[in-house]
Parts: sequence; structure tokens; C-alpha cells
Amino acid sequence: MPQKRMKAVIPAAGLGTRFLPATKALPKEMLPVVDKPAIQYVVEEAALAGIHDILIIIGRNKNALANHFDSVPELEDKLKHKGDHGRLKRVVESSDLADIHFVRQGEPKGLGHAVLRARAHVGDAPFAVLLGDDLIDERDPLLTTMIDEHEARGATIIALMEVDPEQIHMYGAAAVEPTDDADVVKVTGLVEKPSKEDAPSNLAVIGRYVLTPQVFDILERTEPGKGGEIQLTDALQELATSDGDGGGVYGVVFRGRRYDTGDRVDYIKAIVQLAADREDLGPELRPWFKEFAATL
Ligand code: UTP
Repeated sequence: MPQKRMKAVIPAAGLGTRFLPATKALPKEMLPVVDKPAIQYVVEEAALAGIHDILIIIGRNKNALANHFDSVPELEDKLKHKGDHGRLKRVVESSDLADIHFVRQGEPKGLGHAVLRARAHVGDAPFAVLLGDDLIDERDPLLTTMIDEHEARGATIIALMEVDPEQIHMYGAAAVEPTDDADVVKVTGLVEKPSKEDAPSNLAVIGRYVLTPQVFDILERTEPGKGGEIQLTDALQELATSDGDGGGVYGVVFRGRRYDTGDRVDYIKAIVQLAADREDLGPELRPWFKEFAATL
């Protein structure tokens, strides 16, 4: 499996201002979704796609993130002593998922700047980027499809999702042309957070990318864009429109379940949906949700 060698980068150095004050001392990627921090779902997704080397880009509240993926011998001993093998397994799993590395982004200068911090670790090879607050339901695999498309086309692959045109101003939007595969489009242009009128389509860029290393050279010279931040979308726009050796940009159109845990409403929906589907929690919760909904 060649994808075993691909590394993944998870940027988690944003300020998480939409979740203040919860994110004053905790990265938003550490907020629990049912009983695991959001970022653990993302690390599990990468591991399921065959990626075992993961670099997390950390910001000012780095300790909580680093500690979560470390082993905690005292806790493990206590659970072992109590014979609580179920919980012990879940604790050990979180530190056994992959080989996890950390690098700091000194100042949150944007997603493009965060990705550039991965250059030394990734080297001259294609790599995956997974946003640490963007959850893709494990029942609807996306990353594996993107890695396969990258291997078939030698190109940069981004994930796109159709959104309500009223919401496109919250995303990067893609101008696309069809390919002979209904779920894959050629990306001819990208605009970060356009107004509804300026959006080239209602295909929004979501938080999964398989990038060719050419993106690093472009990011080195990408000027701050929307919001004064160095935008990954701007570098991808250059890759999509240049005739260089980056192989162009293609989009995999994702039609599955996605939860943006950086947004408060979506975060709550994620918890409700994932908990309702769980075998251990669903049977008790589902009737309560129905009763509660009837009171609204
Ligand atoms: P967001 O724009 O969603 O994150 O970035 P944010 O800025 O933390 O959120 P708000 O709007 O203030 O609430 C998308 C992803 O990129 C990371 C974030 O951690 C998130 O996973 N990011 C963003 C960085 O790692 N560094 C940055 O400078 C900016």
C-alpha cells in the first residue's frame, strides 16, 4: 500500500474565537465530541486511511494536545488495578493511533502559514492535510478516495461539498469543470469566502486536502489575503491556474456526513448525531430526543 508512506498534517493552531471563552485555555480541537476530543476523530480517520505519521501544528495552548496523545502510566495502572479493561483500552488507544509529532506556529497567521510550518517534516513528498475541527463520519470515507485520486492523477486533490448558496461566503468556493467521473471535478479557480454574487459555484472547500509539495514554494511567497491571513486557498488557486509541474488541482465531491466542530451549532449537531447513533448511548438518548423535540 503506497499510501502508508504519506504523512498527514493537522493544523490546530487557530485561535478558535467562535468558541470563546471555552477556547481561552484549550484549543478548540480538544473540545469533546461525546467522549473524545474532536482531534482524536481526525487522527483516527488518518490512521484508517493508512497514514501513521502525523504532524500536528500547535499554537499557544499546546500542552493539552500533546498530553492527550501521550501515555499516562498512573492512569493506566489505576484502571488495570480496578480491572476496568474497557476504559483502559480506550485510554491506550488514543496514544497508540499513530506516530504523532508537533511543531509550533508561533503566531496564527493563517491556514497557509500553518501548513508551511510542516515543510521540514514533510519534505519533498505529497502529503495530506486534515483540519482538526472538521469531522468526516467514518461511515463515509473520503480521505482514502482522495489518496487514490492523487495516485491516479499525480495532482493536488481537494474535498468539495455542495452547500446552500447563502452559506458559501463562509467557505472557499471552487470554479470547476466536469471530468468523466461524476464525483471528481477539475478545479479551474478558487475564491476564499466570496459573496453569494461572486461565488463561482456552490461547491465549498472542506477540510481535507492531498497536496503536492509544490504548494510549499507557493506558500513561501503568498501574501496575506482575506482577513489579513496567509490563505491556503490562495496558494491552491495558483496551483490550479499555473502550468507548472504541480499536476493541477482536482476536487472530490463529498456527499457524506461532515461536522464542522469549530462552529457552535454544528458542534452541537455533531454531538447529538454521533451520540444518537452509538450503541452504548443511543437506546437511552433516542426516546429522550423525541420527547424533547415534541416540546419545542
Ligand atoms: P479556522 O478559521 O476555522 O480557525 O481555521 P480559527 O481561526 O481558530 O477559528 P475562529 O474563526 O477564530 O473560531 C481552520 C483550521 O486551521 C487552523 C485552525 O486551528 C483550524 O483547524 N489554523 C488556522 C491554524 O492552525 N493556524 C492559523 O493561523 C489559522
